[in-house]
Amino acid sequence: MTNNNQTKSLIEKESLKGRDFLTLLDYSSEEIAYLLQLAYDMKQDTLAGKKPPVLAGKTLGMIFEKHSTRTRISFEVGMIHLGGHGLFMNARDLQIGRGESVSDTGKVLSQFLDGVMIRAKSHKMVEELAEHTTVPVINGLTDLFHPCQAMADLLTIKEVKGDLKGQKLSYIGDGNNVAHSLVIAGAHMGMNVAVATPKGYEYHAGLLEKAKKIAEANGGSVTATYDPIEAATDADAIYTDVWTSMGQEEEAAKRLIDFKDFQINDQLVGHAKKDYVFLHCLPAHREEEVTASVIDGENSYVFQQAGNRLHAQKAVLASLL
Ligand code: CP
Ligand code: NVA
Repeated sequence: MTNNNQTKSLIEKESLKGRDFLTLLDYSSEEIAYLLQLAYDMKQDTLAGKKPPVLAGKTLGMIFEKHSTRTRISFEVGMIHLGGHGLFMNARDLQIGRGESVSDTGKVLSQFLDGVMIRAKSHKMVEELAEHTTVPVINGLTDLFHPCQAMADLLTIKEVKGDLKGQKLSYIGDGNNVAHSLVIAGAHMGMNVAVATPKGYEYHAGLLEKAKKIAEANGGSVTATYDPIEAATDADAIYTDVWTSMGQEEEAAKRLIDFKDFQINDQLVGHAKKDYVFLHCLPAHREEEVTASVIDGENSYVFQQAGNRLHAQKAVLASLL
């Protein structure tokens, strides 16, 4: 494994410095592979008790418009590991919460901070913020994407399975923010990604076309179906997320009915490879999108996956800031 000096030289990749991290579409497959390897190496260092303070004295502002456990804690702890500081800000308490413009907010934050991480309702708002902010802006979840989650997801599969290329990654459930980023990440790594959603909850059509092109360029594929068994068959990894995301609570009762054939249960995972990996970004609803038998079973890596948020984001922070 790597030592501190190797880690230090690894994170000096010029093309990443100062960049925003809004969607994995903005990054080349080579850059994604680099960040995953760096995350892997930095995790080994961290486990060996080595935490080189490569961001000493730097401050990350962390704005939240929605709830969070994993994202908030992993970013804050990540900054501490890197020798810097994470500053939690509830959007409600900022002036932006009572109407200060996004552009003025971005210009002001740039005076104080070395980076901004934001969890927001609207991806468009995050794009506008990034446009008016001179320091890197990192997407901590929007209505459209969750790129930091996808980095942790692939890091987990890489740890368990080794090489990612050619592995069948099946996402079964809502065509949501988590799905969007996961599929693009898998495409970058040349995986064979299968997405199964109910009708009316499809993966974003424009993003699907983009993901297909990225996958093909890397020797992989992306397919979409309405048949969960087709997606689960021979899968190396099965992934699901909640049926009702934050902000969709009014649709919850209808979604329970519409998604009932998409539950990840023992019968469905019986179609996957014996040594398949089960993943979920969490928080999970047992006996809704996944049964306890699967999420608490021996093929589940969901807590290792949650822990990998820390390592994946440290690689992103160290490279961008
Ligand atoms: N998976 C994830 O982003 O978790 P939090 O909502 O707790 O941050
Ligand atoms: N799709 C979920 C992910 C939570 C981490 C949501 O947006 O609520």
